[in-house]
Amino acid sequence: MALIELRRVTKIFGRAPQEGLARVRAGATKERLLAETGMVLGLHDVNLSIEAGEIFVVMGLSGSGKSTLIRHLNRLIDPTDGEVLVDGEDVLKLSTRALEAFRRRRMSMVFQRFGLMPHRTVLRNVAYGLEVRGEGAREREQAARAWVERVGLAGYEASYPHQLSGGMQQRVGLARALATGADILLMDEPFSALDPLIRSQMQDQLIALQAQLNRTVVFITHDLDEALRLGTRIAILKDGVVAQVGTPAEILLAPADDYVAAFVRDVNRARALTVEAVMRPPLCRLTDETLERALAEMRRQGADEAVVMAPEGYRGVVTAAKVEAALHANGARASLAELAVRTPTFTANTPIERVVPAALQAGVPLPVVDAAGNVQGLVTPEAVGKMLAERDGEPTPAGTETRPRDAA
Ligand SMILES: Nc1ncnc2c1ncn2[C@@H]1O[C@H](COP(=O)(O)OP(=O)(O)O)[C@@H](O)[C@H]1O
Ligand SMILES: [Mg+2]
Repeated sequence: MALIELRRVTKIFGRAPQEGLARVRAGATKERLLAETGMVLGLHDVNLSIEAGEIFVVMGLSGSGKSTLIRHLNRLIDPTDGEVLVDGEDVLKLSTRALEAFRRRRMSMVFQRFGLMPHRTVLRNVAYGLEVRGEGAREREQAARAWVERVGLAGYEASYPHQLSGGMQQRVGLARALATGADILLMDEPFSALDPLIRSQMQDQLIALQAQLNRTVVFITHDLDEALRLGTRIAILKDGVVAQVGTPAEILLAPADDYVAAFVRDVNRARALTVEAVMRPPLCRLTDETLERALAEMRRQGADEAVVMAPEGYRGVVTAAKVEAALHANGARASLAELAVRTPTFTANTPIERVVPAALQAGVPLPVVDAAGNVQGLVTPEAVGKMLAERDGEPTPAGTETRPRDAA
């Protein structure tokens, strides 16, 4: 079961939401509803499932309904129609009391403008959530100190928000949200007000913290690069409608419609995509053996290259052509391990950008290894090149230049 579920959620702002709902159901668009009734279609028939442990990103232009969506999750906004479930429980059916406890224990929010209390020190800002929860002064202080340190602000415990840079203030905001122990973090454009370099550092920190803490993060941004960098999955909102939900690779490689395609057109794919998107299974694994046997095995498996494993682990990559040439040149004297090109190895989550130089240099496919050192796949320079060149194969919005799709 998904941790958070939105089912057919529609939100209409204005004087007669039910009347608006009927119009929208009858086919009125956001523009027409506004023009004819003055009411605003905030969200339209939104269905989403958010899994525990994800960084789920909601991306869209200003006014597309991102804040409206996230505010439904902790019920700052009630839907005009539809359901919001957390752990299978309908949030709309919570009593006032239960709702308070739910907001306090399950969810905490990080805002774009930090939302810190100006007259409280860093430490007391971070401790605030714990104070609300009724924890004792000593526990509060201890926990708050630990979180301040964790986000890299040790030494600033006694500072006031105005004495800190924007990036530091947002670290306080993050520490405060984390300190509450809530398992769901709602982040509404938390890094949008920060300079690019600081922003990038904050993104790194969020990824690192998430890997350690395994909370569920619902993260809002209008920035596609940020979405691609952070998102386990991304929902793209347009005029209150979800245009597509998918992993960064799915969004980039298979945009659902012209709108999404237009969005992803200019993305730096080498940076946004990971090796996972281009690797293929290793066809052939060999241990150190005679060249004849190695070649025979590669032919039997129809493999042009093989990963050579030694007892202590990955040894290198050989191509069938190279083994054959060595056999011709000096009989069977060279060993397979000697012939193997000891290439660098990469993990599946490495950005393609970082493998490009090695892929071009090695002359053989590069192995992708998991944390235990097992070879999971291979990346060829051809696959990398194809991926980076393919952007023109996507559907193009009407009115723009169209080029034929490459034969796959
Ligand atoms: N309280 C409100 N009353 C009327 N319209 C609203 C209200 N809140 C949001 N809207 C409208 O709903 C749409 C979505 O807004 P919002 O969720 O704030 O978008 P985003 O966060 O993506 O910029 C916009 O057209 C906005 O003007
Ligand atoms: Mg917003």
